[in-house]
Amino acid sequence: MKEIILHNKTFEVFISETEIAAIVHSMANNINDLRIKNPLFISVLNGSFMFSSDIMKKITLPNTEISFIKLSSYSGTETTGNVHELIGLGQDIKNRNIIILEDIIDTGITLEKIILLLEKEEVADIKVATLLFKPEAYQKEIEIDFIGKSIANDFVVGYGLDYDEIGRNLPHIYKLKE
Ligand code: IMP
Ligand code: MG
Repeated sequence: MKEIILHNKTFEVFISETEIAAIVHSMANNINDLRIKNPLFISVLNGSFMFSSDIMKKITLPNTEISFIKLSSYSGTETTGNVHELIGLGQDIKNRNIIILEDIIDTGITLEKIILLLEKEEVADIKVATLLFKPEAYQKEIEIDFIGKSIANDFVVGYGLDYDEIGRNLPHIYKLKE
């Protein structure tokens, strides 16, 4: 299917399933070149579920572990505003070598929050791997270690990424048709 309709908007194929597989394989090779032992991959849900599943099958680092987190954001009752916390990290990660798996980094606000929360746990090292990156939208200084593909500031959906919660199951990545 070259085009699909989600919530009354038309999307067209932007990165095919085949191209995604090649990108993911190449990212895994680069991560394997780190030659570290017992890394802890942290997959940021929901968007990263498909990317994480595919890339993990290509990781050959010894004693590889994976864990899944979600960032909660809710309005606190106090005037301090939003409270953020990591849901799902039910283990001690002190002194661990962490590799964050993200589907997409846009402004970098989410990434910065995750890194601040992980640093509080006194991890040894944090590396960041993202399938997609929007350089024109990025506002942060945090270095991104592994980028699958840099894209323009377009809205994309599929392969884990959603448009108002739908489209995550699509095997290709689509973009909004002009
Ligand atoms: P950031 O905090 O601005 O970097 O945005 C991160 C989150 O926004 C991602 O994890 C996605 O959930 C969402 N996002 C950003 N751009 C897109 C897009 O083009 N399609 C779908 N979701 C997106
Ligand atoms: Mg989303």
